[in-house]
Amino acid sequence: MDFNPHILVEEDTYETQDVGPWALDKYKLVGNYCNIFTSGMKEKWDQLVYIDLFAGSGHAKIRKINKIYRNSALIAMSIPNKFDKYILCEQDKNKAEALEARIKSNFQNVNYKILVGNSNDLILEIINEIPKYGKHNKVLSFCFADPYSLNLKFDTIRELGKLFIDFLILQALQMDGVRNFETYYKLENTKVAEYLGLPNWRDIFKDELDKHDGKFLKFLADKYQEQMVNIKYLDWKKMHLINTHDSNLPLYYLAYFSKNERGHDFFDKIERSR
Ligand SMILES: C[S@@+](CC[C@H](N)C(=O)[O-])C[C@H]1O[C@@H](n2cnc3c(N)ncnc32)[C@H](O)[C@@H]1O
Repeated sequence: MDFNPHILVEEDTYETQDVGPWALDKYKLVGNYCNIFTSGMKEKWDQLVYIDLFAGSGHAKIRKINKIYRNSALIAMSIPNKFDKYILCEQDKNKAEALEARIKSNFQNVNYKILVGNSNDLILEIINEIPKYGKHNKVLSFCFADPYSLNLKFDTIRELGKLFIDFLILQALQMDGVRNFETYYKLENTKVAEYLGLPNWRDIFKDELDKHDGKFLKFLADKYQEQMVNIKYLDWKKMHLINTHDSNLPLYYLAYFSKNERGHDFFDKIERSR
């Protein structure tokens, strides 16, 4: 892994997100996945596609150290073996414009499409942008989903998962799930039902208390895994834990899902390189 995903940039005039220092851990992981994915798969598939469901503005300023780095989408464009196409979804218009401007000035030769809006609502548009699979056009995608919260519907993953796609999904289980359990447990709240794709999750949570020991985090992680297995992803639990840097508290997981056994090697290599 000779690619360094931490790419410093100069300040410019476009919108830049302020993020915690742990974002650098996330950038290292997503960058290494992209690198290993394209270098390992380019001979076996005709087209490789990168999908970023929560793409951001392209640059992120790390709090405390005040340094600016390329974010997920631009890291994915910086790898030595590029993807054949980049599909980037961002809800915020200003961030999407910033992302586009930065791509135009740094990556003139990449094939990309920016979709502005809620990625959960844009699923058909996203799928339309993925080149059609055919006998002589084998298409494999790598999808990074990096929401702030549990704001990613399982229906979105289910639809994408009908294609050949590996996923790296940020699971805000601690940061959002556990912290907001009381709010989410209220009957009128649909967040967890949509996240897990399980409208009756409260009944399951009560019925399976012995399995998860009343621990909401374990319940969310286990159920997500089961839901992925239901849509034919491999039955493994491959999660990279991201902690805060000051007090080393768990913040979120980056969970990797694949339908192919070679994903074991990807995960293990990447976890070892942290
Ligand atoms: C945690 S940031 C991730 C940014 C980027 N992936 C990175 O590497 O830093 C989440 C981004 O998703 C955008 N966003 C939030 N909800 C969204 C949604 N439903 N669909 C698309 N984008 C969304 C936010 O505006 C924000 O830019």
